[in-house]
Amino acid sequence: MSSTSAQIGVTGLAVMGRNLARNFARNGYTVALHNRTSAKTRALVEEFGDEGDFIATETAEEFVAALERPRRLVVMVKAGEATDAVIKEFAPLMEPGDMIIDGGNAHFADTRRRERELREQDIHFVGTGVSGGEEGALNGPSIMPGGSPESYASLGPMLEKISAKAEDGAPCVTHVGADGAGHFVKMVHNGIEYADMQLIAEAYQLLREVAGYSPAQIADIFRTWNTGRLDSYLIEITAEVLKHVDAATGKPFVDVVQDQAEQKGTGRWTVQIALDLGVPVSGIAEAVFARSLSGHSELRAASQGLPGPTAQQLSEAEAGAFADQVEQALYASKIVSYTQGFHEIAAGSEEYGWDIDLGAVAAIWRGGCIIRAAFLDRIRAAYDTRADLPSLLSDKTFAQEIGAAQDDWRAVLVAATRQGVPTPGFSAALAYYDALRADRLPAALTQGQRDFFGAHTYRRTDREGSFHTLWGGDRSEVGA
Ligand code: 2AM
Repeated sequence: MSSTSAQIGVTGLAVMGRNLARNFARNGYTVALHNRTSAKTRALVEEFGDEGDFIATETAEEFVAALERPRRLVVMVKAGEATDAVIKEFAPLMEPGDMIIDGGNAHFADTRRRERELREQDIHFVGTGVSGGEEGALNGPSIMPGGSPESYASLGPMLEKISAKAEDGAPCVTHVGADGAGHFVKMVHNGIEYADMQLIAEAYQLLREVAGYSPAQIADIFRTWNTGRLDSYLIEITAEVLKHVDAATGKPFVDVVQDQAEQKGTGRWTVQIALDLGVPVSGIAEAVFARSLSGHSELRAASQGLPGPTAQQLSEAEAGAFADQVEQALYASKIVSYTQGFHEIAAGSEEYGWDIDLGAVAAIWRGGCIIRAAFLDRIRAAYDTRADLPSLLSDKTFAQEIGAAQDDWRAVLVAATRQGVPTPGFSAALAYYDALRADRLPAALTQGQRDFFGAHTYRRTDREGSFHTLWGGDRSEVGA
């Protein structure tokens, strides 16, 4: 404790807060520490005090007084009421120009409200997405700060220092945009993570049930994939999990784990907000629904006896060829998931006036976070080529790749359907792709139905204006 004035303070010293505080200290910053119950503060200093300069404080007043001005106060408590409680406690002690940084997984609408309220007091509220879990918080997370440009000018260099670095050395942090922009982007990040995980799960299930491979064999296939265009943290850990053998039973670990997945708020929020914004994130939605379906144990038990198709076993040569097709289907579906996720970010940016640089978002996800992948460099390159790209699918490279993958993608879904293996993620992705590229959609018929039962009117392809057909009468058309 050599310094008396801290460049940054962290309150809320559970695992994430503690590791973030240590990360700042290890990078040479003096860090003031505070926790509602001070035992955690003392424990941190006892265990890790030699990692850097910490100033342990007991009271809110002491904590705020320990910070140099303008103050940078990081709040790492559970999102929701706890965040409001902490803000209520500290805001009266702060002065104009100071910053309160919320590194929790807040809903961006809450962040917008908090930012607005604190702005009246001239306090900068910086809602910040932090991705990478405990490990990332300690060794370098991907950081998605929102808030004012002034706050980023003061805070940005510190965040750049503690953040993960991409392979080219670039820090995985950028000023995302005003008020809730950072938490919005973190939300979509988590939605994409759900979709990525679901697609990988479907690939696994297909390799197991259609191709007949064992978990250990599938681990090897994923390892091979990880040396190519699917190179990513999630593919890497999938291979690890599949290779793992349960010590108690000697069975593959994946066979002794209950097949009921849990979901936290952010994946669900991504879909809820997408509905509000009118953005079709069908792949992300299917991923959330797949988790929720898995948890309906009674419903699943009641449906166990429903008839399915007769299983067909592939030959070894066929299985190998099928595995290659699954790689194509997985890659194509992944392009669609990211297309949908980035569409949602673009729509949020438009709705809330954030002016988000989509290429920069792809760039800061290259390191530190769960969805880190070589693939993100390609997305950044696509937006570098054209910042106002209407969709990732309109990028020439992605369009070519998906074109090259599509026959295999379709073949995989035929096999899945024939064998009765559920592939909601792959299927939704292909349906989205086919719908977007369609010349005509059956929405024309939908409009006809709506006009029939509700006189909702329709537009014509050949003339301007709204029209209604007198369905109950002589079926002549009137301009409305
Ligand atoms: P605690 O150690 O005193 O429980 C994660 O729960 C972190 O958020 C913990 O550091 C916890 O403090 C803190 N926390 C939870 N609710 C809080 C509240 N209402 N006010 C302040 N800190 C809170």
